[in-house]
Formats: sequence, structure tokens, C-alpha cells
Amino acid sequence: MIFKKNGNRIVYTVGAPVLRKIAAPVAVVDDNIRKLASDMIDAMGYFNGIGLAAPQYGESLRLVVIDVPQESNTGSPGEALLLPKMPLVLVNPEIVMSSEKSASREEGCLSVPGLYAPVCRPERVVLRTQIMDGDFIEIECGGLLGRCIQHELDHLDGKLFTDRVEPDTARQIRGDLDRLTRIGQSRNFRRNK
Ligand code: NI
Repeated sequence: MIFKKNGNRIVYTVGAPVLRKIAAPVAVVDDNIRKLASDMIDAMGYFNGIGLAAPQYGESLRLVVIDVPQESNTGSPGEALLLPKMPLVLVNPEIVMSSEKSASREEGCLSVPGLYAPVCRPERVVLRTQIMDGDFIEIECGGLLGRCIQHELDHLDGKLFTDRVEPDTARQIRGDLDRLTRIGQSRNFRRNK
């Protein structure tokens, strides 16, 4: 794995303290926030992510960008509304309800490069958020979108998907995760492909 910075395209990796902080709400959407969101969309595209939370970009703010593919649509109201509008910027997003039914699905994260593991999460969630420069919405999201929203919102509370894996999986990935964490701590940072 090569870790380096490429212009504005930064992704902090596990071991960086910013990933473990509770992020602060966005007080006002001004030009600085618009610039941050635009830089985050650029970095997300460059690193082939479907979501990026501001703490991964080094800013401890409740701001998330997502770019979930249209083909992943499973027909929930949120997917119908939001998938055609990607990429999207979510300002102060929150999950206000979760389905009792859960599902396991493999996840990865730009901040945990090269590591993938199944994570069990609610199948559907109700997302309440402001779309940047758009509406406030509250809508049920399933499929990959629902999954991505839960993963990204975890970042705003200092959580990584590796915190949520089953105990057996945690044992299997511990060595790789420790190695990545040491790299993240010693280089404090950001990755390139
Ligand atoms: Ni992530």
C-alpha cells in the first residue's frame, strides 16, 4: 500500500485521531462548507468511494458526501428519490428510525484500506437530513444506500465498520487492522492508490 497526499485528495486512515472524534454540527452552509463538500466529492471519486464523511477528510464536521450507483436500487422511497441525484451532500444527517430486521453485507472503507469484512446492520433506516443547498428531507432508505448512510453516519460519531464486526471476524482481521493503525498513527494520514 502506498500512502501519500495527492493535491487536495486526502483520506485519513485508521490510527488518525480525527476518525475517533464526535464531529460537530455544521452551523451554517457558507462558501467554506461548499468548498469542503466539493473537495470531498473530488477525493471520493478519485479514490473510487461511494461515500466519504468529513472526518475522513480531516474535518470534524457532520457533513457527508455519497455517490451510490443507480443500479443498486432496491425500490425503497429514499433510493427512488436520491439515487437519481448523486453525488449528494448531506448536512447534519441523522438516522431517526431503524428497521428491526437486519442483514449482513461486506463493507470496506477508504480509511481502512484493503480490508473488507461482513457487518450486520438494520436493513432500512429513516434518514433525516438537509441536502446541501436543497430541501430538508426525512425518508426511508434501504439497499446499498441505506447501508452506505449507516456506515458514513458512524464516521460522524467516531466509529468505523471494524468496530461492528462479529467477534470471530474481529479476531481474523486484528493483525491487518493493527498494522494499518500503526501506519495511520505514524504517518498521521491520507492515502493514495
Ligand atoms: Ni468509511
